[in-house]
Amino acid sequence: MTDFDGALRWSDDGLELIDQTLLPHEVRVLRIDTVDGLRDAIARLAVRGAPALGAAGALGVVVAMDQAVREGWDGNRLAAEIDGLRRARPTAVNLAWGVDRAAARLPDGRDAVVAAALAIVEADARGNRAMGARAADFLEAVLPERPLRLLTHCNSGALCATEWGTGLGVVRELAARGRVDHVLVDETRPLLQGSRLTAWELARAGIDHAVISDAAAAGLIVGGQVDAVIIGADRIAANGDTANKVGSLGLALAAADAGAPFVVAAPESTIDHATPHGGAIEIEYRDEDEVLSFAGRRVAPAGSRGLNPAFDVTPARLLTAIVTEQRLVHVARGEQPGRSAATAVS
Ligand code: MRU
Repeated sequence: MTDFDGALRWSDDGLELIDQTLLPHEVRVLRIDTVDGLRDAIARLAVRGAPALGAAGALGVVVAMDQAVREGWDGNRLAAEIDGLRRARPTAVNLAWGVDRAAARLPDGRDAVVAAALAIVEADARGNRAMGARAADFLEAVLPERPLRLLTHCNSGALCATEWGTGLGVVRELAARGRVDHVLVDETRPLLQGSRLTAWELARAGIDHAVISDAAAAGLIVGGQVDAVIIGADRIAANGDTANKVGSLGLALAAADAGAPFVVAAPESTIDHATPHGGAIEIEYRDEDEVLSFAGRRVAPAGSRGLNPAFDVTPARLLTAIVTEQRLVHVARGEQPGRSAATAVS
């Protein structure tokens, strides 16, 4: 991916992001020097996807420290700016997780914070490969017959992470094993992370795919044209209820009806042990203009209002499995990912 492996990199002692709002037409690199600049990049989805937000948040703590030195902030101002960063988007738990992990090293100085943030970047890359292999093993075991027709939603590829991807990492792994027939890519209205980002990644990887409108997915799944659905996650409650890009719930309902496996691939850092169930997950509502417009042009009548939840929650009862870098939680067999559950990892 240009000379990026994923959504971001730490280069010349500073944070650089691919501006994902411009893909697939332009690959532009943003250098982030201020907390405001990073908050803005997060808010307009120049950087997005749960694991990438975790890494960006952690590296953003270094950005904040450097800005504090340049502009003479006191400790209270620095803490307030870091707190604003961790709240830049509410649903993906990785953002607050990444900020908190890096900020915990503030008393030890800049080098320690940089090391903590880069450890998150490196662990994410390694973890994605591990979860991809584990989920691919699972899908090969439950669907041994032929190359698979897969469906995915939003973008859970390298662009949502530091490398390889979560849900799309599973697709890449299956493709490397010769087990993918083709991938159906939900366009993912309103911001088109599927058609703009996932299709871009699959094209570059040489994996056969077709972009579909979100509305086509249920009919294709229930009509037997999809062997498995694979998505990422923004926050997984302790009981397995999973928040992901709006539209994921409809896919899960259709997959349950069709008896097709519905697999969530996400790092352990996406599991929020403090949130008992999906009803307690905060859903981000974004500007109504995103749904009232298409490609920057208003398509709804001037008098219409819009409602724009960016995520929905799929109840655990509709999931087949949650796969992380450490384990497979077989949700369909009653396992739960939370610490209180028998599957807990210390
Ligand atoms: O609004 P976005 O683009 O940040 O939403 C991203 C998603 O919903 C992804 O599917 C999710 O973060 C998982 S990707 C690892």
